[in-house]
Amino acid sequence: MPTISGVLVRPEAPADYAAIAAITEAAFGKAREARMVEAIRASDGFVPELSLVAEDEAEIVGHILLSYVSLEEDSRRLLELGPISVRPDRQRTGIGGALVRAALAIADERGEPLVLVLGHPSYYPTFGFRPASGLGIVPPDGIPDEAWMAITLSAYRPELRGRVVFPPAYSVEA
Ligand SMILES: CC(C)(COP(=O)(O)OP(=O)(O)OC[C@H]1O[C@@H](n2cnc3c(N)ncnc32)[C@H](O)[C@@H]1OP(=O)(O)O)[C@@H](O)C(=O)NCCC(=O)NCCS
Repeated sequence: MPTISGVLVRPEAPADYAAIAAITEAAFGKAREARMVEAIRASDGFVPELSLVAEDEAEIVGHILLSYVSLEEDSRRLLELGPISVRPDRQRTGIGGALVRAALAIADERGEPLVLVLGHPSYYPTFGFRPASGLGIVPPDGIPDEAWMAITLSAYRPELRGRVVFPPAYSVEA
């Protein structure tokens, strides 16, 4: 796993769950995304090797999760990035970028065709994300087009198209 200025990126372990919840709440300033991480972890869309923490001297300073969402009328599932959180006092030091790159590398090694994200249109293009609608991957109703992005990986094929359905874990309340 890559390191950035002493920060190690590694898969989460049960002993990290409380720290992940605390960082997620602190980063988003509310509890909903921390509950969403827990709901995804308990769901069949969870991929243990794609829930990564950034650790600095035994302290968790960041977390990223990639998990499966469904395609309507299609048995294939696609990975979606999020939530991602960096401890507020450590933001803008490259930890988020290290987490995104590490997760994308694992997704590529797994033979996943692409990774979706619903997020800041100014942050994710840095990593190669672009509007997912251009690939024919349509978001669930009510999702703004500019925030709906995808990055294609080695196994991507253009015939992969359709409308995404979010799992129940995405609708969790705080
Ligand atoms: C978004 C987040 C994960 C990025 O992690 P990070 O470690 O701060 O990011 P990095 O240091 O790797 O990258 C920093 C660059 O990303 C961009 N960036 C960071 N946060 C951004 C944001 N909220 N919106 C747009 N661009 C952002 C900036 O260009 C920044 O560079 P700069 O400091 O030179 O301006 C982190 O800021 C965070 O936890 N935010 C709160 C939770 C959140 O919004 N999660 C994502 C939801 S889509």
